[in-house]
Amino acid sequence: MAIGVFDSGVGGLSVHRALVGRFPTADLIYLADQAHAPYGGLPGERIVELTRRGCERLFEAGADLVVLGCNTASAIALRRLQQTWLPGLRQARGRPANVLGIIVPTIEAATGLPWTPEPERLPEKAEALEVLGVFSTPGTTLSRVYEIEIDKRRGDLAVFSEPCPELARLIEDGADRRVLAPIIEGHVEALARRIGRPPDKAVLACTHYEIVADLFHAALPAGVALIHQPGATADSLGRYLAAHPEYDPGSSGERRFLTTGAPGPQHGMVEAFWGAPLRFEAA
Ligand code: DGL
Repeated sequence: MAIGVFDSGVGGLSVHRALVGRFPTADLIYLADQAHAPYGGLPGERIVELTRRGCERLFEAGADLVVLGCNTASAIALRRLQQTWLPGLRQARGRPANVLGIIVPTIEAATGLPWTPEPERLPEKAEALEVLGVFSTPGTTLSRVYEIEIDKRRGDLAVFSEPCPELARLIEDGADRRVLAPIIEGHVEALARRIGRPPDKAVLACTHYEIVADLFHAALPAGVALIHQPGATADSLGRYLAAHPEYDPGSSGERRFLTTGAPGPQHGMVEAFWGAPLRFEAA
């Protein structure tokens, strides 16, 4: 079998690249739903439907396990799909099938605590309050998933989110880095104004932003640690595979890249990030 990675577009390649590094012999299939990207401003029901269709396509292509390389889909669609769709799908397929998100691993990395559904909350410490800045799509920001789940675990870690409405689309379209840099600086400044100071650490909670992580590094004051969501996701998948031997990640190192949009090469910024030419096939 293979591991599938799904995103609205090229952002999930940041997660995919971390999985290639961590599991070099695994068979990996990437699907970008570029016909419908970006997801960040779509109604929730539409995100659920598109995410389900993307996962279905990856299961048809040979995946048994799909990682949503997308915060927006993980925040808005994942729980619904796990509760209402996957049980029937497993029965119909007669074999294991699962969809994993990237928010749980990110929260584990941000809090330094392993995930438990009913966590014990560490008490507030007003004198040593840490501040986490979360840069994300409007859909993820509105879900408040990072605020809610981190607050259940760490009373001493305050979360401030900054929605970046245009950024994923601009990165998806390959906008010039000179256009992206001032937009990112504007979001970093807006977040610091809202907090009253810069955050202590930050998460690029839209996988597209990882493609220009250096621009975020440059805009944030020195010393603000960026939590690396792709690395956290790869670590978490390693633990999941060790605990679930029914999922075989394959061993031939095969890589396929599918798109619902225009097949062919991706733009230069994405190829530079990937480090090699990249051709997508029609999904
Ligand atoms: N890269 C995705 C995320 O992490 C989706 C961005 C979008 O399609 O708006 O949220």
